[in-house]
Amino acid sequence: MSMEHLYSPARKSDFPIFSRVINGSPLVYLDSGATSQRPRSVLQAMYDHDAIHNGAVNRGSHTLAGESTLAFEKVRNDVAQFVGAFPDEIIWTSGSTMALNAIAYSCANASQGRYINEDSERFSLSASDTIVVTRAEHHANLVPWQELAARTGAILRWIDLDSEGYIDENTLDVIDERTKICAFTHVSNVSGVINDVDKIANIAHSVGALVVLDACQSVPHMSVDFHALDVDFAVFSGHKMLGPTGIGVLYGKRDLLASLPPFLTGGSMIETVEMESSTYDIPPARFEAGTQAVTQIIGLGEAVRYLNGIGMDVIHRHEQELTRYALEKMNDMEGIRILGPSRLHNRLGALAFDVDGVHPHDVGQFLDAKGVAVRTGHHCAQPLHRHLGVYASSRASFGPYNTLDDVDRFIEALAGVRSYFSVE
Ligand SMILES: Cc1ncc(COP(=O)(O)O)c(C=O)c1O
Repeated sequence: MSMEHLYSPARKSDFPIFSRVINGSPLVYLDSGATSQRPRSVLQAMYDHDAIHNGAVNRGSHTLAGESTLAFEKVRNDVAQFVGAFPDEIIWTSGSTMALNAIAYSCANASQGRYINEDSERFSLSASDTIVVTRAEHHANLVPWQELAARTGAILRWIDLDSEGYIDENTLDVIDERTKICAFTHVSNVSGVINDVDKIANIAHSVGALVVLDACQSVPHMSVDFHALDVDFAVFSGHKMLGPTGIGVLYGKRDLLASLPPFLTGGSMIETVEMESSTYDIPPARFEAGTQAVTQIIGLGEAVRYLNGIGMDVIHRHEQELTRYALEKMNDMEGIRILGPSRLHNRLGALAFDVDGVHPHDVGQFLDAKGVAVRTGHHCAQPLHRHLGVYASSRASFGPYNTLDDVDRFIEALAGVRSYFSVE
C-alpha cells in the first residue's frame, strides 16, 4: 500500500480511540457526521481544567474562579475568531439543537410581547408571516420552526430539492414579503450538498427576513466565516468538530442580539432583580442563564486549537479527496445508489447510500463486523429521505483522521454486502 493511502492531516495516534480493535479489525471510523472522535489534547485539557483550575466562572473573587473565567472567555475569543465573529456574538448552548430552539423560543417570547426594546418587534411573528426552511433540514432545524409556527399562527413553507438533493431554484419564490425567518442548512448531513448561502441569504434579506444558518456540517469540515456569509444567526456543535458533547454555539449578529429576548432566565443573565420583575444583562450573558458547561468549553477551545494547527483548508482539501475517491469507487459498484450528488460538485463528505435489497441496519451490522463504523437510519432527516425515495439509508462520513486506506477498507467491506445477503 502506498504511503499516500495512510496519510491523514490529523494523526490517528493523536486519538486514543484508534487503538480500538472492533470485531477483530482496527477501527475504521466513518461516522464523524454524527459525532467526531476527540484527540488526546482535548481530553487532557478538560482533565487539567477540572484537576487544577476548576472554579465558578464569573462568580467569585478567588484565584480559581479568576483562572476559570479567563480560560472560559479566551475560548469565546478563539471560537469567535475561528468562525469570523465578534466574541460577544458567541453564545454557549448545549449543542445545535438547543441553539436552534433558543432562536425559536426567543421569537415565541417576542411574539407574546416580551420585548427588550422597540427593535424586538422584528422577532415577533403572527398569522400573516411565514417561516421558510428547505426539505433537506435535519429535524433540529425543522421541528423548532414547526413549533414556533404552531405557537404564533405563522405558516411554515419550504424550498424544494432536485433528485440529487440540490436546491430547486424554481422554488426559491416561497421566500416573499411575508417571510420573517429563513432557516436552512449550510451542508446537508445526508446528501453532503453545500447550499449557496449567498444566494438564499440575499433573497431572504431583500424581503427583510432573518437568516438562520445550520452550520453543523460545515464548520468542522471547511473554513467558515459568518461575517463574510452575512447570516443573522448560525449554530454548530462542539462534538462534531473534535470537541466534547454538551457544548454548542449560537452565533447572532451583535445588533440583533441586542434586541433579542432571552429564552432561558435565572442566574447570571440579569442586571437587577426585584421581587416582581427583573432587568436583563447585555449579550452574550443575557442568553447564558445558569452555570455553563465550562469543562466542555475548555475542551472545545482545545479542539479549535487542534484544528487550527492543521488548518481548515488542509482538512477541507483532504476530506474532499476522500469523498472524490469514495464516490468514484461507489459509482462503479452494482446495487449501490448514492443518495445525493454522485460527483464532487458543491458537496462535502456526508455520503448516504442505499444498498439494493439490503436493509440499512443489516448493511451497518455487516460493516461493523469488519470494523467499519457507519451510520444507519434516517439521520434525523425523514422528509429528505422520503424525497430521495427511501425511508432510511447507510451513511459514511469523514473526519480529518480518515485516510484513503479507510475508504479502501470500507469499499472492500461494502463489496461483500449483497452477496452475503444473497441479493446479487
Ligand atoms: C445538519 C445538522 N443539524 C443539526 C444537528 C443537531 O446537532 P446536535 O445533535 O449536536 O444538537 C445535526 C446533528 O447531527 C446535524 O447534522
